[in-house]
Amino acid sequence: MTSFGPVAPYYDELMKQVPYRMWVGYYMLLLSQQDVHPKRILDVCCGTGTMCEMLDREGMSMSGLDLAPGMIDVARQKARKKKFDIRYEVMDACSFEMNDTYDAAFSFFDSLNNILEPAGLEMAFERVYAHLRPGGSWIFDLNTAYAFEAQLFDQQDLRQNVKLRYKWQGEWDPEQRIITVNMKFWMGGEEFDEIHRQRAHDVEEVYAMLERVGFTKIRAYHSYTLNPPRYRSDRIHFTAIRPPE
Ligand SMILES: C[S@@+](CC[C@H](N)C(=O)[O-])C[C@H]1O[C@@H](n2cnc3c(N)ncnc32)[C@H](O)[C@@H]1O
Repeated sequence: MTSFGPVAPYYDELMKQVPYRMWVGYYMLLLSQQDVHPKRILDVCCGTGTMCEMLDREGMSMSGLDLAPGMIDVARQKARKKKFDIRYEVMDACSFEMNDTYDAAFSFFDSLNNILEPAGLEMAFERVYAHLRPGGSWIFDLNTAYAFEAQLFDQQDLRQNVKLRYKWQGEWDPEQRIITVNMKFWMGGEEFDEIHRQRAHDVEEVYAMLERVGFTKIRAYHSYTLNPPRYRSDRIHFTAIRPPE
């Protein structure tokens, strides 16, 4: 795997400026819009478990899954050290089986863009649906084609005084709707590379997939607002409900 491998031990350092606390607040707001008040939540593509920990502190019972063993290793180490009782598993969002059910599931920070085949994304929706109790909530975000066209991934921090330096360069293929991002990192004396690929799944296609799987009350928002997506939305949050029986 060339993504979320070598970077895993440094992921939290890289995310230091990321407003996780605001995301948790926004997640709770979207849940309240759905009138769902979960106790048991599944984080699909949980990474190093930062959102799981924050929601655990809010009183939720949390589980998380992620494809990258290195990310789950970090999540487990953090949980052990901070005494969180969170279940973490290395599993693929497209085929996972937790043998459990949840009141809600979510996937944040464009994790599902990493699934490059539309059929794979629909399988992930099916797996989530199968793990939700009737009436359960599914909330996730996706980067849009606009974000990739606007070169969102062309980023760098090469200041000498930062712990982790990086330079990323994206190549957008509008026909495939896939961006390939070449990432270079420097940490102390060490240098490593990752290649990340993301697909800009079409909003209409996403709606159709969610409906085919059986979800209802599907809504899309310009991220971190309750407004509908607009032409220049670089990220969209989707909410859906597994219908009550
Ligand atoms: C940008 S990180 C976000 C992690 C976490 N949600 C956060 O907000 O910090 C994307 C994560 O998606 C995971 N991922 C990518 N494809 C996946 C798949 N098919 N199944 C499960 N996890 C996947 C990666 O391993 C990575 O940890």
